[in-house]
Amino acid sequence: MNLPASSHGRLGDTAARDYSRKLQLFNAFARPELRQAIATLALKPGMRVLDAGCGTGEALGWLAAEVGREGTVVGMDLATAHIAAARAVRPENAWVIQADLLTTPLAPASFDAIWSVNTFNHLHDPLAAVKAATRLLRPGGRIALGQSSLLPDMYFAWDSRLERLTNEAVRQYYRHRYQLSERGLTAVRSLVGLLRAAGLHNVTARTFMIERVSPVSAQDEHYLVEAIFQSTWGARLRPYLLKEDYEQLTRLCDPEHPDFALRRPDFHFLQSFTLVVGAVEPE
Ligand SMILES: C[S@@+](CC[C@H](N)C(=O)[O-])C[C@H]1O[C@@H](n2cnc3c(N)ncnc32)[C@H](O)[C@@H]1O
Repeated sequence: MNLPASSHGRLGDTAARDYSRKLQLFNAFARPELRQAIATLALKPGMRVLDAGCGTGEALGWLAAEVGREGTVVGMDLATAHIAAARAVRPENAWVIQADLLTTPLAPASFDAIWSVNTFNHLHDPLAAVKAATRLLRPGGRIALGQSSLLPDMYFAWDSRLERLTNEAVRQYYRHRYQLSERGLTAVRSLVGLLRAAGLHNVTARTFMIERVSPVSAQDEHYLVEAIFQSTWGARLRPYLLKEDYEQLTRLCDPEHPDFALRRPDFHFLQSFTLVVGAVEPE
C-alpha cells in the first residue's frame, strides 16, 4: 500500500502501529453502551454502512446486525494488525479494507451511513477527513462520530485529589509523547463544531455514560487493570507525580495489594461516550 505522509497521524498512527489488544479490551468493556449508541441511529435493513477507522472490527458485527443480511458493512483502517484482527471477526456481510481515510479508494456516494469511533481525533486535519468521508455518503446520508472522553470522568470516587493529579499526569505524558498542546487533547469538545464546519445538517449530540460499580465483572476488571491501570498509567506516570502520590496510585492499581481500588465497596467508575451525528443535504 502506498501511504501518504498524512497517514502518520497526530497520535502516531501508521500502517505498522498495533494497539489491537487495547482496542479489543475497550470494545469488550464498553460493548453495552456502544451498542446502545448504534441503536440510536435506527439503521434500516439493507443499508450500506462504513466503519471508518474500524480498528479490530468489533463494531462490524454490531452494525451488521442492524442492517441485516441484505445490508452491507465495510470496515476501513490504516493499520495492518488491526485489519487482520477485524478480518478474523467480520461477519458474512462485512468487508474489511486497508486504506487511509483521506485517500480512500471507495466510490463517492456509496454509503447510507458512516460510523466512526475514537478515530477523527487521531488525524492531523479532522475537518479535511470529515469532508473526505462525507463524499462517500449518498444525499441524505449520515455520519456518526463517537468519542469517549480522553480520561475517565471518575475512578477514585473517594479521592478527588489523587484523581485530579493522575489525570494531569496522563495529560502531561500525552502532551510530551505526541508534542500536543492542551487543546490537542480535547477531541470530544470539537465534534459538534467539526460537523457544522464540514457543512453537515441536523447535527445532534448525545452522551452515554459507561458506569461501573464494585463488584465489577472479570471482563471489566481485565479492562480496568490492563488498559487503564497498567497501560495508561503505570511507570510512565512516575516522572509526572510526587513520590508519595505515585506510590499511593501504585497500591490502588495492584490486584495483590489490600488497597486495590476494584475491591473497595465505594469503587465507582464513570466515562462518557459522546455520539455526534450530522447529515448530508438530501437531493
Ligand atoms: C483509537 S482507534 C479506534 C478503533 C475503533 N474505531 C474502536 O473504537 O475500537 C483509531 C483507529 O483509527 C485508525 N486510523 C488512524 N488514522 C487513520 C487513517 N488516516 N485512515 C484510516 N484509519 C486510521 C487506527 O489504525 C486505529 O485503528
